[in-house]
Amino acid sequence: MRVLGIETSCDETGVAIYDGERGLLAHAVYSQVNLHAAYGGVVPELASRDHVRKLLPLLHQVMDEAGLTRDDIHGVAYTAGPGLIGALLVGAGLGRSLAWTWGVPALGVHHMEGHLLAPMLEDPAPAFPFVALLVSGGHTQLVEVGGVGVYRLLGESVDDAAGEAFDKTAKILGLPYPGGPALAQLAESGDPARYRFPRPMTDRPGLDFSFSGLKTYTLNALRDELAARDDQDQTRADIARAFEEAVVDTLLIKCRRAVREAGVKTLVLAGGVSANKRLRARMDEMMAAEGGRAFYPRPALCTDNGAMIAFAGHQRLAAGQHEGLAFSARPRWPMETLPAIASA
Ligand code: KG4
Ligand code: ZN
Repeated sequence: MRVLGIETSCDETGVAIYDGERGLLAHAVYSQVNLHAAYGGVVPELASRDHVRKLLPLLHQVMDEAGLTRDDIHGVAYTAGPGLIGALLVGAGLGRSLAWTWGVPALGVHHMEGHLLAPMLEDPAPAFPFVALLVSGGHTQLVEVGGVGVYRLLGESVDDAAGEAFDKTAKILGLPYPGGPALAQLAESGDPARYRFPRPMTDRPGLDFSFSGLKTYTLNALRDELAARDDQDQTRADIARAFEEAVVDTLLIKCRRAVREAGVKTLVLAGGVSANKRLRARMDEMMAAEGGRAFYPRPALCTDNGAMIAFAGHQRLAAGQHEGLAFSARPRWPMETLPAIASA
């Protein structure tokens, strides 16, 4: 079965085609970063309008790249939530309409399930059961995964998501939007020994996270140090490094706890923050010491993309799941409410 995937939940327009036998045939992402940069964050109405402009050209691009015509597509998957309602409706409206025109089934996919399953697009792919750490701009969740749709939430952030903490802290450090990758780059020239930030909520049992205190910590460190030091660039880099170390270490401590408690040897990292190099290197080491392995997608499939939606949609459509002619988008949508599929 060959599935077209459409992602428009936030500020990336993604389109891809996944083939059950041949794998990912083509995928393209258009990032709206430049559009939103002047505002320091995503402006929802601008995001929706830009998805309208970019979706059809991207669709033609991936169909051409894959050398396919409409008759070669057997199902359409689009992100139905969670995300920005206007942005979601653009992809859902196009996806549902194309499926109707082409006479194929359509399915609204959960964005975080897309992220969660994305590492399965790689070779080798992780096998169920595993623990997944979902770290994006809107979510930080630890999930025990028994199969497609068999999800048990083990813990989540009680305040800012990890990506949100990266973005807000980057802003404090004077870095351009989107802050996560810029902060990670600055941290590379930072001295890890100069500051030690707290590892929030690691000294008590449980698998929840709290990252909002770290940005206040950054603010205070910056204020105190910039007044006292000449080399402000180095101070910024050192603070970025301390922040990154604190987030990575906190995620690592909770992941180790989660895989031990779940009794599994496979950890999956997904979502935008899983593109972070320090996070990947540290999780590799930790899982090797646990006698297991960490899996994550290539960086382009960590951040939002259509390939993960085509893949997640394929798993469900191939199992016979699909929707009627109506479509809906859900800005909020708990992942544990998704149905399990039998073939998982
Ligand atoms: O999954 P994603 O593309 O969008 C959401 O579903 O939210 O994640 C975006 C988030 C942003 O907060 C971004 O700053 C963060 O992922 N991010 C990173 C890195 N690359 C992206 N954070 C830390 N280090 C990175 N290399
Ligand atoms: Zn995402």
